Amino acid sequence: MILTEFIHRSVLLNEAVEALNIDSNSNYVDATFGRGGYTREMLRHITHGQVIGIDRDREAIDYGKKHFAKEITDGRLKIFQANYGQLAEIIQVPIKGIVFDLGVSSPQFDDPKRGFSYRFEGPLDMRMDQDQELTAFEVVNSYSAQQLKRIFQQFGNAPLPYQVAQAIVTSRQKKLIRNTIDLVTIIENTLPEAVKRKKGHPAKRYFQALRIEVNNEYGSLKQGLEQALEVLEIGGIVSVVTFQPLEDKLVSQTFRSLARMKPYPKGIPIIPEEVKPELEIIHKRAIKPSTEELEQNRRAHSARLRIARKVRKISFR
Ligand SMILES: C[S@@+](CC[C@H](N)C(=O)[O-])C[C@H]1O[C@@H](n2cnc3c(N)ncnc32)[C@H](O)[C@@H]1O
Repeated sequence: MILTEFIHRSVLLNEAVEALNIDSNSNYVDATFGRGGYTREMLRHITHGQVIGIDRDREAIDYGKKHFAKEITDGRLKIFQANYGQLAEIIQVPIKGIVFDLGVSSPQFDDPKRGFSYRFEGPLDMRMDQDQELTAFEVVNSYSAQQLKRIFQQFGNAPLPYQVAQAIVTSRQKKLIRNTIDLVTIIENTLPEAVKRKKGHPAKRYFQALRIEVNNEYGSLKQGLEQALEVLEIGGIVSVVTFQPLEDKLVSQTFRSLARMKPYPKGIPIIPEEVKPELEIIHKRAIKPSTEELEQNRRAHSARLRIARKVRKISFR
């Protein structure tokens, strides 16, 4: 496959990068390199600083090495294939800003062999990191009905989660479920007409839930966000674009808990440093894509951007 075949249109690009207020001599992290849309925009402002790009997907890294060869050679870009949950191990220089653009890229979603999409026939894979062992095939063919139900409910808010889980278990007892379309057929045959008539593809929420489980997306996000906040210099900015309410909630709760004063004994003359907020939230409400962006990019609909500035040392350990 030619790597340029699938295009990714970056969401909330200007807003997320502008928020970093880039200083041309400082270092920044793009924690979700993808096809380098955010990185390219960051590099426009960098002369003597550096962008560190991270992605767990080998194809994203290969694309980066090919299409950003000049910036890698002149030292302004370094790219790493890694989980952003290991961000702290990668970062060796002072960092003024970190950006996360979560979820799946269009090249991942639109490539049938990656198995992310209910629209194309492909293997039940769904791994962002191709070297990882757990695939959607394992989840679908080995998790119990209870485990599948929990995933569908918790990660997809999917209708009739137990019925679909049970239908999967019954079907795989006859024959293993090997590809995306077999799974779509089981889901469609289980859901009543009234549910199928609702907006969106009937399999969408189940596929989303499986993808989140396969890639441990919430676990990685929690780890990545905590490490980002720890490694960031004081005064540095973190900017996060999410695509699902649960992700957005995790980000907003993490920010809010660090932006609060901790309890301290009333009546003492000087407020102790350690009870003061560690973060400043830049916009109270999440930033949404403009009407213009929504008209041009369907994927942007659920996007939310949250931005915070680190004001004190942060440690989660
Ligand atoms: C929405 S895309 C980013 C697109 C990018 N901002 C651009 O403009 O091209 C999300 C990317 O994050 C990567 N990703 C998701 N979870 C990750 C994780 N835990 N660690 C590293 N990369 C991750 C995916 O592989 C995907 O390439």
